[in-house]
Amino acid sequence: MNVTTAAANETAKWPDYRYDTILAASERVNWSVEDLIGFDKHLDFNRPFMPESLARVESLQFLTPKERVILNQIRGHDYLYIFGLVEEFILPFVLDHARPILHGDDARVRAYLNFAGEEAKHIDLFKRFRKDFLGSFGVPCEVIGPPEAIAQAILSKHPLAVALVILHIEWMTQRHYLDSIVDDAGLDPQFKSLLKHHWMEESQHTKLDALMVQAIADTCSDEERAKAIDGYLEIGGMLDAGLMQQVKFDFESLKRATGRAFTPDETDRFFSTQQQATRWTYLGTGMSHKNFLTIADLVKPGAAAQLEQIVPLFS
Ligand SMILES: [Fe+2]
Ligand SMILES: [Fe+2]
Repeated sequence: MNVTTAAANETAKWPDYRYDTILAASERVNWSVEDLIGFDKHLDFNRPFMPESLARVESLQFLTPKERVILNQIRGHDYLYIFGLVEEFILPFVLDHARPILHGDDARVRAYLNFAGEEAKHIDLFKRFRKDFLGSFGVPCEVIGPPEAIAQAILSKHPLAVALVILHIEWMTQRHYLDSIVDDAGLDPQFKSLLKHHWMEESQHTKLDALMVQAIADTCSDEERAKAIDGYLEIGGMLDAGLMQQVKFDFESLKRATGRAFTPDETDRFFSTQQQATRWTYLGTGMSHKNFLTIADLVKPGAAAQLEQIVPLFS
């Protein structure tokens, strides 16, 4: 390891999180999927599902108010699918991290096993909401995938790069809820409840993931740490390509759901708005989160400034 950087990393402050405190918080948050969806609980298709800061449908004034709500709901369907998809690679990654430490600190082992169990629950949660959505929406909504292939491509990258992507996703979830959802009284209560309950458990994940990044970074050379930032950006590029394909699918879903045609100018406006809205939702909100940037900079000094230069592409 480069001596200068090693010294810098020793003086820089990693967060002072404790496994026993995180575990206790995780155990206090106690909900089941059945509490949120199914039986008499269903999505209300008269309401939007996503906050406007993420959906960005209101500037598309050539759509009627009803058509804007439909597009918002298509974006909500994306959210259910894409979160299910990313959690398909988070779950095996956390399990792989937990296995070698099974005979170590008890609170640490239990915290990571809870983390994995919660992600398995979230995969189920997002699937059940999606089933409810597709049962009522009326037309099919095509999605990117399959999740297993995307998970495999991401997991083939360096573990430190993958851990950074997971940290990005955890902070992204926090930001979505706190910045845009908690105070939005117009959203469908069921969808809002999903976002709230997901946020409650992801709050512990942000800490466990920071500890996971730290533990992996401690085993890496400076060169590996620098490459991890590149790897994080490569995964971001892969996700961006998938997301841009998803916007194309969303346009087709909107045409199917509304039965309307679009002029070339309306088509251009749809894509310019929705591509950036989708990039901000899944890439910009995580990449620009100050807590994510703090950890990225601890992995590689200078990484925060490097990433801040890239954020406008995803805003
Ligand atoms: Fe989750
Ligand atoms: Fe999580």
